[in-house]
Amino acid sequence: MVEKIEARWLLAIETSCDETSAAVLDRGQIKSNVILSQDEIHAPYGGVVPELASRQHLKSIDYIVNESLERAGVKVQTIDLYAVTQGPGLIGSLLVGLTFAKGLAYYFNRPLIGVDHLEAHLEAAFIENPDVEFPALALLVSGGHTSLYFLEKPLSYRLLGKTRDDAAGECLDKIAKFLDLGYPGGPVIEKLARGGSSQRFHFSVPKMKKPGYDFSFSGLKTAALKVIRENGLKRDHPALSDFLASFEEIVVRSLLEKVTQAIIEFKPVALILGGGVARNGRLRTGFTRLAAENNLPAYIPSPRLCTDNAGMVGALAWKKYRWGEPLRLDLGLDAYPR
Ligand code: KG4
Ligand code: ZN
Repeated sequence: MVEKIEARWLLAIETSCDETSAAVLDRGQIKSNVILSQDEIHAPYGGVVPELASRQHLKSIDYIVNESLERAGVKVQTIDLYAVTQGPGLIGSLLVGLTFAKGLAYYFNRPLIGVDHLEAHLEAAFIENPDVEFPALALLVSGGHTSLYFLEKPLSYRLLGKTRDDAAGECLDKIAKFLDLGYPGGPVIEKLARGGSSQRFHFSVPKMKKPGYDFSFSGLKTAALKVIRENGLKRDHPALSDFLASFEEIVVRSLLEKVTQAIIEFKPVALILGGGVARNGRLRTGFTRLAAENNLPAYIPSPRLCTDNAGMVGALAWKKYRWGEPLRLDLGLDAYPR
């Protein structure tokens, strides 16, 4: 039985995909947020190899947790509360973080809070802007997910729509892989698209059969592959930056079109952007512009807080604790892949 506590120090762990991360928070303020990316390990394959990801988490987790404690200047015995990503993500990867967190919580007899990875991505916007107004509309764009949420109040997430096939980040990663540009694709495409003309290649926003807020990116990916083949595009082709700029532009437009539609129907008072693709300059600019056109504030996390990190997991766990979620050490807490 975990005693009722007035908590101060929280340690959070995130291992849902290919970043091993641990963060220490002092009364909800991030004191350390250590992120070890596995990009180099997966780069030769052009995408995350699940078996390699979980093995690498196993190798790194102990070091990363210790590093986060050290950078925050606290000993593990000081930690009052543990938090960990439960899902969605790669099951083998999730289990490494979950098991490690359970072990620590059990040994030190402290509560453990399970956190949803997607809700944590949305929480990232609140880290630097705790006073985001409600109701808010939130667009989450990552390598595994593309979803639109309506947040009526804190900790309430109503899913309005999600992708029916590829996530936006996945689509960028696949195009980069096809062109042999490297992994992850989003940042490489952004770099190579700089200075390119987004008007040169014409793509249209995918039309869904059913009205609503679902996204689709697989048709766009097929259209892009056709253009690549027809124009013989490759790494050193003179039209590559125009192509990538045009492609980035259509991905951003497809995302923003749904946001525009939802602003009209749901009349939010604030807009939130989150997930790894939210690092993208074109998306950040487009999102900010859209918000301004609608007289709404736009909350976009700093780039480092957009991609997977344990800081966002800790921030959400702290909010749950403050809002009264019962604390316990549930050793049965399970990982969920989706
Ligand atoms: O949120 P995240 O770290 O992991 C998941 O939960 O999926 O997002 C990773 C995704 C990858 O698809 C990556 O290509 C994309 O975020 N990404 C970007 C940029 N940086 C990362 N996409 C576009 N532009 C960027 N600068
Ligand atoms: Zn993520």
